[in-house]
Amino acid sequence: MSQDISVALQEGVLTVTLTRPQKKNALTNPMYSELADALERAETDSAVRVVVLRSEGDLFTAGNDIGDFAAEPTDATAASIEEKQVRRFIRALVDSTTPIIAAVQGKAVGVGTTMLLHCDYVILSENAQLITPFVNLALVPEAASSMLLNQRIGHARAFAMFALGEPLDAPAALAGGVANRVLPQADLHDEAQRIAAMLAVKPAGALTATKRLMRATEPMLAQIEAESALFDERLASAEAREAFAAFKEKRTPDFVQFA
Ligand code: COA
Repeated sequence: MSQDISVALQEGVLTVTLTRPQKKNALTNPMYSELADALERAETDSAVRVVVLRSEGDLFTAGNDIGDFAAEPTDATAASIEEKQVRRFIRALVDSTTPIIAAVQGKAVGVGTTMLLHCDYVILSENAQLITPFVNLALVPEAASSMLLNQRIGHARAFAMFALGEPLDAPAALAGGVANRVLPQADLHDEAQRIAAMLAVKPAGALTATKRLMRATEPMLAQIEAESALFDERLASAEAREAFAAFKEKRTPDFVQFA
């Protein structure tokens, strides 16, 4: 277990906390691996009846660690792509039949937002902002968000989020069906545990069957396959290398230099 994730099981609730606030909970390959482990455990360990995803610090997560993106080989082979733990995590989210609650404070960037589209009960703090700046990083959306986000909030708003990096604030996320509740930040974790405790005493067989009925996973997996092929292509592009270098050097990227 790394220092960057903590996992605790209590009374049927598996609480998974991102604990890398000094780097805004940016997600590294080992962190994705641990997140996938936790979700896979929830499917096989009958002691786990509900999962809570949450984080320490002032924001939920800054998304994928951009240093990790920059370290990707530009000639990534199929084998190295297979090893990407983010893919395992996303697959585990799609396959999950255990209820997942997310508690989100501050910004949820990139995969921080796209993972919420696979959660079953999303609680936001009043200052939450969902941000998917894939195009700003010269990338494309992932985790079937290029289908799921438009289905929730409509093409126009989803396009502005993906293409311009326009944030979706908490009231808009609530109105768009991306979230269930908006609360003061001080109440966020208690409320997540309260809802989790309610779900943990429901009949687990009926609960997991209901979740399964509500989620058509095949179209999601097909969308993820299409997204992943383009994502890997974009990740290796000169545009993306410029975006990652600009983030590291704390400057504005220059995309106009590319044809
Ligand atoms: N990957 C790697 N490191 C990250 C990171 C990321 N996604 N997001 C933040 N960090 C690091 C910063 O580099 C900084 O490290 P340093 O202290 O060693 O310089 C530290 O976390 C604090 O970040 P900072 O930018 O100073 O915090 P902030 O509160 O001013 O801004 C964000 C927070 C999330 C708005 C900003 O960090 C950001 O835009 N991050 C990138 C988000 C992104 O594009 N993610 C990828 C989505 S696909």
